[in-house]
Amino acid sequence: MFYLSSILLLLFMGIVFFVLFSLAYAGLSAAPWVPLSNKEIRRMLSLAGVKPGEKVYDLGSGDGRILIIAAREFGAETVGYEISILPYIISKIRIAFARLQDKIKINFSSFYKTDLSEADVITVFLLPEAMKKLSPIFRKGLKPGARIVSYAFAMKDWEPMKVDKPDPKTMAIYLYRA
Ligand SMILES: C[S@@+](CC[C@H](N)C(=O)[O-])C[C@H]1O[C@@H](n2cnc3c(N)ncnc32)[C@H](O)[C@@H]1O
Repeated sequence: MFYLSSILLLLFMGIVFFVLFSLAYAGLSAAPWVPLSNKEIRRMLSLAGVKPGEKVYDLGSGDGRILIIAAREFGAETVGYEISILPYIISKIRIAFARLQDKIKINFSSFYKTDLSEADVITVFLLPEAMKKLSPIFRKGLKPGARIVSYAFAMKDWEPMKVDKPDPKTMAIYLYRA
């Protein structure tokens, strides 16, 4: 009995360690998990002018909220990339509850080495260092005309098509075209 409970405790500690490690690793890789409000997500997707049938990629898809709103309200086909296990599992559950499995695909992998050539719209809410790393990847990997919407952080070496900042208290959203 003591032996079994020790094994269970070790297993539990291993899982907790893995969850905490993956949250910290994601924070260092591009940004920690900070979910956006639905209102701000709608502002991003409207600024990008997402149309039914378009492919929207969310890089660092967190709990899947951008993907769900893009699929449900804008009729998009969506793809997410997430490296942190906790938000990834939550996103899978949310998508299953919303019955949107046929419209949303989520990859448990880093977005840095992925093929983005099919994306019509890319959404990002990532730290400036990650935007710097993604800039050449977007230049090489996106099809002409693809749009990028970035919440709060600009891509310094790109000229935005539009910047949405309705008032001084609201975060800016940047729209770029490849
Ligand atoms: C600021 S949150 C944005 C979450 C979501 N897009 C939203 O707006 O609600 C950034 C997300 O990127 C994830 N992330 C960080 N580095 C990543 C990487 N290299 N590949 C995939 N996801 C990553 C984090 O785990 C986190 O969930």
